[in-house]
Order: sequence, then structure tokens, then C-alpha cells
Amino acid sequence: MARISDKNTQKNEELIEASLRPLTFDEYIGQDALKNNLKIFMGAARARNEVLDHFLLYSPPGLGKTTLAYIIANEMKGNIRLVNAPSVERTGDIASILSSLEPGDILFIDEIHRLPKVVEEMLYSAMEDFKLDIIIGSDGQSRSIKIDLPPFTLVGATTRAGDLSSPLRSRFGIAEKLSYYKDNELILIVKRTAKYFNSEIDDESALEIARRSRGTPRIANRIFRRVRDFANFKNKNIIDINDTKEALRALRIDEIGLDEVDINYLKTIKERFGGGPVGVETIASAIGEVTSNLEEVFEPYLLKIGFIDKTPKGRIITSKGKAHLKGKNNVHLL
Ligand code: ADE
Repeated sequence: MARISDKNTQKNEELIEASLRPLTFDEYIGQDALKNNLKIFMGAARARNEVLDHFLLYSPPGLGKTTLAYIIANEMKGNIRLVNAPSVERTGDIASILSSLEPGDILFIDEIHRLPKVVEEMLYSAMEDFKLDIIIGSDGQSRSIKIDLPPFTLVGATTRAGDLSSPLRSRFGIAEKLSYYKDNELILIVKRTAKYFNSEIDDESALEIARRSRGTPRIANRIFRRVRDFANFKNKNIIDINDTKEALRALRIDEIGLDEVDINYLKTIKERFGGGPVGVETIASAIGEVTSNLEEVFEPYLLKIGFIDKTPKGRIITSKGKAHLKGKNNVHLL
């Protein structure tokens, strides 16, 4: 999938993605086990007249963590406050967010593994007993006061569950992993999106998009919109397999959904580093990518499909990964 570098384009993409979001569990496709668990936890909390326990969602990007937080808020009839962890720099920032919460609110903290330590520590008592500990004054004259907070649910989202400190992780009553979607689920998501845009797409095309979306609804929806462009450009409103294949070719997405970054990543391990093991930082600098992007976006899917392995000495390409590279010598290696 082509990376989106321009900030405005990214904002636009986010707005479109937000407008496509299902608002209820009935509309939400896939993640059945997680949905069933959530329904039980939410029903039980409602029956006890309590708020839902703090909830940690982890998965690679684009699988629906934010969407689920909205659905939880909607179904628990609370308001949602969205916070991106890197924007919360000081204890004062989190204190002001926490003290403005209303009873039953959902506080959604995205990329929660990136909270500064001092901010994270302030969350501990807030999560545990709905109290905010603040220090007033300075040096010898400082004292701590406790402020009562309304009962709320913290929904934390992360692509790197392993980076969460154990005191923070242990304060979540529930932790759930979102898994990659199956083709039949992605087909339904693509068809739902087509309906939203008043377009029609045939079954063969929906399956083709599903197969090339790396199990990720965000990618399926983005591909769908580009495929629709190709059809609309020809004044057609029914998308067929020709439009679909043309768009996928233009996006340089291969038959199993890998893009140029994936291919360069695999070729670098195979050709420059003799198949590995090689450290991810070395691969990142060889192909001009950011290490965390490789770790959070690209590697999870390549691991899932068995194209690479992680070893204590670094990444290796598997025989399955090598087999896929055969016949791809026309792809430019950076
Ligand atoms: N759009 C993005 N993810 C979705 C999902 N899981 N269900 C329905 N529509 C979606």
C-alpha cells in the first residue's frame, strides 16, 4: 500500500475512515470472540450499575481498536474522550483531562505505550480507585492532595503490548488482542463500504480486494476507494474485476497484498544479508524506513504469513518468503 506522506491527505483519510466506522456491535464485522466477551462484560457491568472495567486493546494498526472504543461508548451510553499518548506530555495535561471526565465516560488513549512515565504514574490511582493524586507547592512546602474522579473506563490501545510497563498493564481488568480478518469478513467490509459510497462491486472484485488487504479493514477500505476511482474515471458505477486489477497494478500491490516496502524488506534480508539473521535497525537503514514502522506495520503480517522469522540474532527470511520473491526481480531494490 502506498504510504501517505502528506499531512492533509492523512487528515482526509482519517476523516473518511471515521465516517465509515460502524457504531454498533451488530454492524461490526469480525472479531467474534472478542465481541462476545465484550458484550458479556458490558452487560454484567450494566446489570451491576457499574462502569466497564478498564480495557486494553492491542493489535497491528488498522484492525479496529478505535472503532471498538466508539462502540463501547455508544453501547454503554457514555461519552468518549480521545487522546493520543504522544500529545500528553506533562502531568498537568493528564490531570486536566481526568478532572474533566463525567461519570461513565470512556477515556480512549491511543498508542498508550508512548505515555511519559510521570503521566503514566498519575494514571495508576486514577484507574485503581478513581482518585487523582496531585502535588501542590514546591520543594519543602509541597503536599499531596487527592481529588475524587467520577467512575470512568480507560480504553488503552497499543500496537506494542510488550512495551507497556507491568504496573500499567496490571491495572487493566481486561486485555484483548484483535486478530487479522479473514477474507470472507473483508469481503463483507468492502461491500458495506461500497454501499456507503453508493457504489456497486461484483463478488470477484470484492474477493480480490479482500485477498490483497493483509487481513486489515483499513487497507481494504483504502484499496476499495482507489478501485472505485478507476471505475468512476471510466464513468462506471459498477466496479468489475478489470477496474480492480488495474487499480491494484497502479498501487503496486502484489497478488498477496505485499507492497514495495515489503518486497524491499524481504529482498534486503535475502540479497544483502544472505537471508539473515540481521537486525531490524540495519534493514530499516538499508531501505530508508523507520524501524518502528517496520516493527509495527510490516513485520507482524510477514510473520503471520510465515515469510520471516524473528531469532535472538535478528530477522531471517524463510523458504516461503524466498519462494515468493522468485519472479519478482523487476521490483526496484533501494
Ligand atoms: N470498517 C472497518 N472495520 C470494520 C468492521 N470490523 N466492521 C464493519 N465495518 C468496518
